[in-house]
Amino acid sequence: MEDEKSGITRKDLLKAALVAAPLPLLAGQAPALARTAASSGTTLTPTPFCHDGDEVTREQTEGPYFKPNSPLRSTLPGSGTPLTVSGYVFGVNCQPLANVLLDFWQADNNGAYDNVGFNFRGHQFTDAQGAYKLTTIVPGLYPGRTRHIHVKAQAPNKPILTTQLYFPGEPRNSTDTIYDPALLMTVRTVGSGKEGTFDFVLNVTGGGGPTPTPTPTPTPGGTWQAGHTYQAGDQVTYGGVTYRCIQGHTALVGWEPPNVPSLWQRVG
Ligand SMILES: [Fe+2]
Repeated sequence: MEDEKSGITRKDLLKAALVAAPLPLLAGQAPALARTAASSGTTLTPTPFCHDGDEVTREQTEGPYFKPNSPLRSTLPGSGTPLTVSGYVFGVNCQPLANVLLDFWQADNNGAYDNVGFNFRGHQFTDAQGAYKLTTIVPGLYPGRTRHIHVKAQAPNKPILTTQLYFPGEPRNSTDTIYDPALLMTVRTVGSGKEGTFDFVLNVTGGGGPTPTPTPTPTPGGTWQAGHTYQAGDQVTYGGVTYRCIQGHTALVGWEPPNVPSLWQRVG
């Protein structure tokens, strides 16, 4: 998916912008919140160099083991080598896509699919920044295939992309005729587990993108207070400045509105 001419894609620049956003006081918080903090407060401006046209993620065969109606869950429990797979889903215009359905299914540690129940099957949706994260195990090998994870991706009301993700350094990658190096995850070893990343690009233009913040009805919320539970849309004042809550949460000391752009947006 790299632009072979420049080596840098619009997507890379976007991700760099996401990472570069300030992260005051949240560096030690949960990754999900930190990621949200990193990405909010960053206005994605249209850029004249967004013309590289990231390649749409390639389709692959569904194989014989897909089952509909997988449970809504991002963690697939079971024994094996822990694995997370995370990344973003983009449209062809480089825009992150929110609310994309990602339905994962894979073999267990012994290379077997659960065709009776739903072990190692689950679906989730990308968040407002187009991010997803699957927590699972490294799938086992089974005859005839290299190591892989199946996935279906679907932006709201758009066609389904069916594909598979692969692991680098697998001996069978060179003999599996279905294997496609364009679908390799980046995988690193962390402790006793693995962390994989993969960004999808769906053949979707326009629409999508971060969920627009609804125009709130101004609700006088008084002065910000630690310990108070705020809902998205609530407004408070802090230091004489008005902020609007953009993500429901219970306020903690250190999460004062100016410090947590993932939670509070300055109004006016
Ligand atoms: Fe498979």
